[in-house]
Amino acid sequence: MSLSSAEPLVEQLVAIRRHLHENPEVSGEEFETTASIRRWLTEAGIRIADYPLKTGLVAEIGGLHGGPVVAVRADIDALPIQEETGLPFASRITGRMHACGHDFHTASIIGTALLLKSREQELRGTVRFLFQPAEEKARGAQQVIASGALEGVQAVFGMHNKPDLPVGTIGIKEGPIMAAADGFEVAVEGLGTHAAVPEAGLDPIVTAAHMITALQSIVSRNVSALGSAVVSVTRLHSGTAWNVIADRAIFDGTIRTFDEDVRSRVLERFEQVVIGVAAAFGTKARVNWIDGPPAVINDQKWASQAAHTAESLGLTVVRPAPSPAGEDFAFYLKKVPGVFVFMGTSGPQEWHHPAFDVDEAALPVAASFFAELAVDAINRLSGQEGSPLPINDHMTLS
Ligand code: NI
Repeated sequence: MSLSSAEPLVEQLVAIRRHLHENPEVSGEEFETTASIRRWLTEAGIRIADYPLKTGLVAEIGGLHGGPVVAVRADIDALPIQEETGLPFASRITGRMHACGHDFHTASIIGTALLLKSREQELRGTVRFLFQPAEEKARGAQQVIASGALEGVQAVFGMHNKPDLPVGTIGIKEGPIMAAADGFEVAVEGLGTHAAVPEAGLDPIVTAAHMITALQSIVSRNVSALGSAVVSVTRLHSGTAWNVIADRAIFDGTIRTFDEDVRSRVLERFEQVVIGVAAAFGTKARVNWIDGPPAVINDQKWASQAAHTAESLGLTVVRPAPSPAGEDFAFYLKKVPGVFVFMGTSGPQEWHHPAFDVDEAALPVAASFFAELAVDAINRLSGQEGSPLPINDHMTLS
C-alpha cells in the first residue's frame, strides 16, 4: 500500500468530510452522523458489528481466516460553538460546529475502511472500527468499552488532527502524549452578615481568595521540575449585594497532569490546601471532583511501529510535545496497548476555535496511514513480521 492508493478516494472522502462538517451533532446526540456512517460503510459492503450503542457504531473488516483483532478509533462528535469560518460548507446548525476536526477523523477512518475492504482477502486478522460518540464530554470511550467492542482487541490506534503540523507530517511519541483532565468544584460555606459588621460572620470570599492563591503553590512547590501540571481556577461565584457579606462562595476549574503519581499528588495537595485554609478562616469547604480521562500513554512498541509505518509511506515523523488537553482515548489505552498520533493538518487555528479548519489534503494521508498500520499490526501480531523493529532516533526513550 502507498499514499497513492488512496488517491481515487479523495473526492469521496472530501464529500464525506464536508457532509459531516455541514451537519455537526454534539456529544450523545450523533444520531444523523451515525446513520450517515452506517450508510457509507454499508454501501461499500462493510459489515456493521452488533454492539449496543445509542450513538456511534462499530464495523469490522477481515477475520475471514481468524487471526488477531486490532481496532482503529475515530471520534464523531462536534462542539457547541458558533462557526466563523465562512466556508461554503460551514455548519448549517446554529451554535454547533466541528471545531475540533472530528469530521476529519471520521472521514479519514472511513477512508481507511474503504482501503482495507478492497484488500479484505489478504487480511490475516480483523480490523475493528470504533466510530466513537461523545469524546468532547469524555464519556464515549467508556460507552464503547461497556458495549464490549474492545473485547478481543490486541492493539488500538487513534489520532487527533494537529493544526500546527503540516500535512504529511505525523507526531508520534511513546509515553504520555495528552494530559489527564480532572475538574473540580469547591464550595466554601461561611456565615453571612452585614458588610459593616464582618466580625459577626465568616467571610467565604476572603477564604476563597486565600485558597485560590495557595492552590497556585502546588505546581511550584509540590511538582518536580522534571514533572509538569496545570492548576487553573476558571470561575468564581459569590455574593448578592455590595453591602452584604455572602454566606457561600463557589469556584471551579481544572487540573492537567501527564503522570499518575503527579496526578494523585496534585489532587491530594489540592484537598489539603482547601480543607486547611477553610479551617484557618473558620469556614467549611467541600471539593467535588469531576473525573476526567487519565493521561493518554502510548505503548513503546506500538509507537515504534507507527513511526516505522509512517516512514514506509514517506511521511515525516516528528516527536511532538505532549498536549495539555484531555482525550478519552486514554480509557482504551488503560485496557489495551496501542498508540495515539498527531496527524498534521496545516490548520489556520487551534482546536475549538470558531475559525478552526483542516487542510483536506490530509484525508488520504490519514486514511492510508491507518490502513497500513492496521495491516502491519496484524502481520506483527500473527508473527508474520515479528522481528524487533529498529528504534528510530526520535523514538528513543526519555
Ligand atoms: Ni478533539
